[in-house]
Amino acid sequence: MKKILHICASARGEESSSYRLSQQAIAELRGRYPDARVVLRDLHAEPLPHVDSLYSNTLARLPGGAPHAQGRSSLAWSDLLIEELKAADAVVIATPMHNFTVPSALKAWLDHVVRIGVTFNATSEGKVGTLPDRPVYIAVSMGGARARQPDFLEPYLRAILPTIGLKDLRFV
Ligand SMILES: Cc1cc2nc3c(=O)[nH]c(=O)nc-3n(C[C@H](O)[C@H](O)[C@H](O)COP(=O)(O)O)c2cc1C
Repeated sequence: MKKILHICASARGEESSSYRLSQQAIAELRGRYPDARVVLRDLHAEPLPHVDSLYSNTLARLPGGAPHAQGRSSLAWSDLLIEELKAADAVVIATPMHNFTVPSALKAWLDHVVRIGVTFNATSEGKVGTLPDRPVYIAVSMGGARARQPDFLEPYLRAILPTIGLKDLRFV
């Protein structure tokens, strides 16, 4: 294992519970693969734009993506984030629950990496992911008791990540 992608979706940085929980998964991976490099994608230190018209129009017209010439459009972000994801041998996601589901920062990341014609194809059998599978550790923190509230976070990630080929999900 050479590269671990560490995605942090809390606004609370290193104070965040999910970040601290995710450090356990990072430490375990580092113990097993001492030479692995950790690439941090902090979704609050560097906020992602929502998908814009260039991204949406390109998806509608050119499912494969097209070269972009307009700087950091959300399409450029999408290209960068997909490359980052492709290069990772393991992914560690640190996320709090916000209003029963993923925080908007993580949803924005998903909107950029779940891309038709690039990370999945729409077929008559449904959506088929194109990314090779690899372990995805997901460290979740929440304020309320799990049994006393709806949980759209875990089922959502269990549905969306396999859509792009990431099926080996390990929730913490
Ligand atoms: C906008 C917002 C919405 C939240 N919604 C929920 C929720 O629906 N259920 C819950 O249990 N906790 C909710 N919380 C609390 C956080 O999930 C909880 O404090 C979590 O431990 C924070 O993790 P972090 O330190 O990694 O940011 C919410 C917090 C915020 C800021």
